[in-house]
Amino acid sequence: MNTLVILAHPHLETSRVNRRWKAELLKHPGICTLHELYHDYPDGQIDVPREQRLLEEHDRTILQFPFYWYSYPPLLKKWFDDVFTYGWAYGSRGDKLKGKAMGLAMSIGDKEQHYRADGPISFTVDQLTAPFQASLRHVGAIALPHFAVYGASFQMTDEQIDRSAEAYVRYLKK
Ligand SMILES: Cc1cc2nc3c(=O)[nH]c(=O)nc-3n(C[C@H](O)[C@H](O)[C@H](O)COP(=O)(O)O)c2cc1C
Repeated sequence: MNTLVILAHPHLETSRVNRRWKAELLKHPGICTLHELYHDYPDGQIDVPREQRLLEEHDRTILQFPFYWYSYPPLLKKWFDDVFTYGWAYGSRGDKLKGKAMGLAMSIGDKEQHYRADGPISFTVDQLTAPFQASLRHVGAIALPHFAVYGASFQMTDEQIDRSAEAYVRYLKK
């Protein structure tokens, strides 16, 4: 299965987790095609035909990003708005994502135990990512289990980040 990883981090130069994950992906060149939204579209103008072609060429797409305000960074939300077009992704003739597998790989600042109905955040990450699941359902794509690392805002050690990068590669190899 060929995999596209779409990395969306607005400040990769100051990132610890996503930058390390990217470095790990580059150590395993056969594992995926890596595509960086903020790098390729610094002005926010997304090349829609290119993005649609990339999605069509890959069986599986993983969206990698830091969790911002319980959601995607803004360019990734724009990517959905621009790329999932009527007649291509949905509508009577829009079937290009049908049967494609898609998943999320997220670095999450807060602790895992806070993302519970009875915790301080009151919502699970599965609940917060429901718009993604609903979007995939709308276009006939298959939602994969997500990969997440929690506590990224709490002084993760380099060793913990290294371990998360290795776990991320294992997730992609599944
Ligand atoms: C604008 C902004 C919004 C954020 N919102 C959340 C949030 O809603 N929930 C959370 O757990 N962490 C949140 N964080 C923390 C980020 O998820 C965390 O800094 C990031 O995952 C670390 O990854 P990195 O080292 O690759 O930047 C936010 C950070 C920023 C800068």
